[in-house]
Amino acid sequence: MQQRTIGDRSVSAIGLGGMPMSIEGRPDEARSVATIHAALDAGVTLIDTADAYHRDAGEVGHNESLIARALRERGAGPDEVLVATKGGHLRPGDGSWTKNGRPEYLKEAAKASAKRLGVEAIGLYQFHRPDPDVPYADSIGALRDLLDEGVILAAGISNADIAQIDEANEILGGRLASVQNQFSPRFRSSEGELEHCAKLGVAFLPWSPLGGIRNAPELGSRHAAFNEVAAETGTSVYQVALAWQLALAPVVVPIPGASRPESIRDSAGAADLELTPAQIARLSAA
Ligand SMILES: NC(=O)c1ccc[n+]([C@@H]2O[C@H](COP(=O)([O-])OP(=O)(O)OC[C@H]3O[C@@H](n4cnc5c(N)ncnc54)[C@H](OP(=O)(O)O)[C@@H]3O)[C@@H](O)[C@H]2O)c1
Repeated sequence: MQQRTIGDRSVSAIGLGGMPMSIEGRPDEARSVATIHAALDAGVTLIDTADAYHRDAGEVGHNESLIARALRERGAGPDEVLVATKGGHLRPGDGSWTKNGRPEYLKEAAKASAKRLGVEAIGLYQFHRPDPDVPYADSIGALRDLLDEGVILAAGISNADIAQIDEANEILGGRLASVQNQFSPRFRSSEGELEHCAKLGVAFLPWSPLGGIRNAPELGSRHAAFNEVAAETGTSVYQVALAWQLALAPVVVPIPGASRPESIRDSAGAADLELTPAQIARLSAA
């Protein structure tokens, strides 16, 4: 499997997104564990999660605990698999997502995540989403303190614009490891942030790289060019979407979500799918 870099870590070019295994519509736990194990078997060494990936109130960290259990069962430790989690979003249990970017809250949340993940220090901790009620510098200041205290080994941000990327990198003293923004054939509004990360050498993790849990099944019917290239390469439209993202810049590391072993097995194959420059140009223009 092709490798990419996040901070000072080498990881598989395709990660696994944990959200579909823990929010509304999630499968039973046995299927989720089988999905995580299928990812490991396919060579995936990056798993993205968040303390807010849960469905009901009172089950904060459902996804983190699930991943920790699946990794324990396989004896896969933090040196083998980078588990990237996030803090700053909350789910009160009514289906909504609220925010809390207060530094004291983020510091407590990170420590609780480390405990659930069963690690001394979190491999990559990402500030989930800017909180309009808290100065961005204050939230990122908490990440800097967590880094300095050794609670987290690398710091990332999510749902950030170019100015926030620069501000975060400055506050972190040039130690910003990753930016996680929405990016897929359908949602391309973060193209500027992707290019900016490529210039800075900061990893860019496209979230919902297949259009999101609800839209992923329609990827082929919505995007004819992606379907055509899938036919040309004899692969799935999902692999083409992910391989196209990988081709955009060497800092890109897509994290397709999955709740079925077959999904992540297929998606992982994108790391080794090479598209021609003409195919890449056609997909970018589509
Ligand atoms: N930072 C943020 O604010 C934020 C927001 C949203 C998501 N995320 C992260 O990004 C990850 C990915 O986003 P997402 O899960 O929302 O959407 P996504 O990756 O665009 O789509 C996920 C869905 O695609 C299906 N799928 C994946 N690979 C497939 C394949 N090869 N063939 C057929 N179907 C396939 C899966 O189906 P099955 O379920 O049937 O396997 C899954 O439900 C999340 O899991 C989460 O870790 C972050």
